[in-house]
Amino acid sequence: MTSQLIPVEPFDFIIFGGTGDLSQRKLLPALYYRQCQFSEPTRIIGASRSRLSDDEFRDVARQAIAEHVNGADVDQSEVERFVARLAYVPVDAKSGEGFDRLRELLGDSRSIRAFYLAVAPSLFDEISARLSHHGLITPNSRIVVEKPIGRSLASAHELNDRIGQVFGEHQIFRIDHYLGKETVQNLMALRFANALYEPLWNSAHVDHVQITVAETVGLEDRITYYDTAGALRDMVQNHLLQLLCLVAMEPPSSTEANAVRDEKLKVLRSLKRINGQDAARATVRGQYRAGASAGGPVRSYLEELGSKASSTETFVSLKAEIENWRWAGVPFYLRTGKRLAARVSEIVIEFKPIPHSIFDEAAGSISANQLVIRLQPDEGVKQYLMIKDPGPGGMRLRQIPLDMSFAQSFHGRAPDAYERLVMDVIRGSQTLFMRRDEVEAAWNWIDPILDAWSEGRQETQLYTAGTWGPSASVALIERDGRTWHESN
Ligand code: BG6
Repeated sequence: MTSQLIPVEPFDFIIFGGTGDLSQRKLLPALYYRQCQFSEPTRIIGASRSRLSDDEFRDVARQAIAEHVNGADVDQSEVERFVARLAYVPVDAKSGEGFDRLRELLGDSRSIRAFYLAVAPSLFDEISARLSHHGLITPNSRIVVEKPIGRSLASAHELNDRIGQVFGEHQIFRIDHYLGKETVQNLMALRFANALYEPLWNSAHVDHVQITVAETVGLEDRITYYDTAGALRDMVQNHLLQLLCLVAMEPPSSTEANAVRDEKLKVLRSLKRINGQDAARATVRGQYRAGASAGGPVRSYLEELGSKASSTETFVSLKAEIENWRWAGVPFYLRTGKRLAARVSEIVIEFKPIPHSIFDEAAGSISANQLVIRLQPDEGVKQYLMIKDPGPGGMRLRQIPLDMSFAQSFHGRAPDAYERLVMDVIRGSQTLFMRRDEVEAAWNWIDPILDAWSEGRQETQLYTAGTWGPSASVALIERDGRTWHESN
C-alpha cells in the first residue's frame, strides 16, 4: 500500500520567530514537504523582530530548504511556488509594534489560522494577549506552543491560565515532537493493531521496561536555556514521560484526541511520587566532563558553558513505578543524556524469564525475551527469541532477533515529526498534542524530584563524554538484578 496525501483546507500559518532556528531547521522544510497537500489560497507569514522585506524572508526560506531538505526532494519550481506564498511582518511582542500590520495582512479571511510560537516561552503569554487585543483570533484559529511549558507545576499552571484566557483548549496545540515520530505512532499500531502482545502487556508477563533517549550532541548553541533547564525538565518531563504513557496506557476506546489523552493522564496520575529520601535511590543526575564523542575530542559541559560553575544535569536516569493493577511491581527505568556513547532512542520491554528449563547445562543460558522498539536511528522493531543453534552438536540455544527494520520494509524517506504535526494542527487533530492536564500531571511528578535535588538529596555526578553516563546509573538498575540493554 502506498501512502496517501489528503488535502487540507486553505490556511494562514503565522510563524512568530519566523527567522529563528526552529523555523529554518524544521517548520519551513516541513511545510515545503507538505505543499502537495495545500489548497489555495494558503499563506505562510513570518513574524519576528528583524526588519526584513517579504523578499528577504523568501531568501531565508530558500536557504532553509537548501540546507534542511534532502537534495533529491528539492525541485526548484516547487521551491518558487512555495516562496511565492510567503510574506513577512516585523513584529515586537513587547511593544506590540507590527500587530496592526499583521491584522491588515490577514484581513477578514475565514481561512484556518495557525499561530505558531517558535519563540522563547517567556513571550507566550504576551503574544497570545496581543493576538487577542488586536482582534486576530477567529473561531477558526489555533495556537501552537513548543515545550517547555513552564519549569514547574506552578509556572506551567500560570502559563496555561494565561493562554487559556484567550484560546479555548480545543485551539491550543502543545507540541511534544516525539509524538510525531513515525515509530512512536507505531507503538500504538504495535499494541493495538496486533492481538499478539496485548495479553502479555502487564505485570504477569513483563519483568521491566527501559526507555533510553541518548544523544551524542552537547550544549549546541542553547547555553542560556539549557543551563536553567537541565535534562530532567528538557527531556524527562515531556519526551520520556510521553513515551512511558504510550507504553503503559490502557487501550483507548478510539484514536480520538481525548480518548488517548484520558488514558495517558491516568498513567501520569498513577506514577509513584519520588520524594526526599527516595530520590537518592531512585534517581541519578550526571554532567559530562571532557572526553570523546562522535569521533573526536569534546570539551566538558562547564567548558562549553564558559567555565562557569554549574550543577545542571546533562544526564538523568531514574526508576519510575506505576501504581495500578496492570503495572504494579514492574519498574520503568528511564535514562537520557547528552554526549553519550551513541545517538539512540529506544524502548525495551523485557518479559519474565521462563518458569522452568527442560534443557541441560550444555544448552547454555536462556535469556528472557525482549521486544526492542527503536525510535532512531534505524527505526524498527526487534523481538528477541531463543532458538536452537542450527546443525549438529546437540541442543545448544541461542538468542536471535526477529528483525523488522522499517527502512528495509518500507522504502522511501521517513518523514520528520514536524511534517505530521503541522498538518495535524491545520486539520485540528489534537491526538498527538499534550492536553493541559497532562502537562500539569507530568510536572506534578517531576516537582518533588527537583525539590529533592535542590535540597541536596542527590549530587550531580560527573561522567566522561562518550560513555553511558555515571557509574551510579549502572548501579541503579543492577541493584535490582537487571542491566541496561546494550544500545549500540
Ligand atoms: C528537544 C530538546 O526537545 O529534543 C533537545 O530540547 C534535544 O535538548 C531534542 O536535543 C532531541 O530531539 P531528537 O528529535 O533529535 O531526538
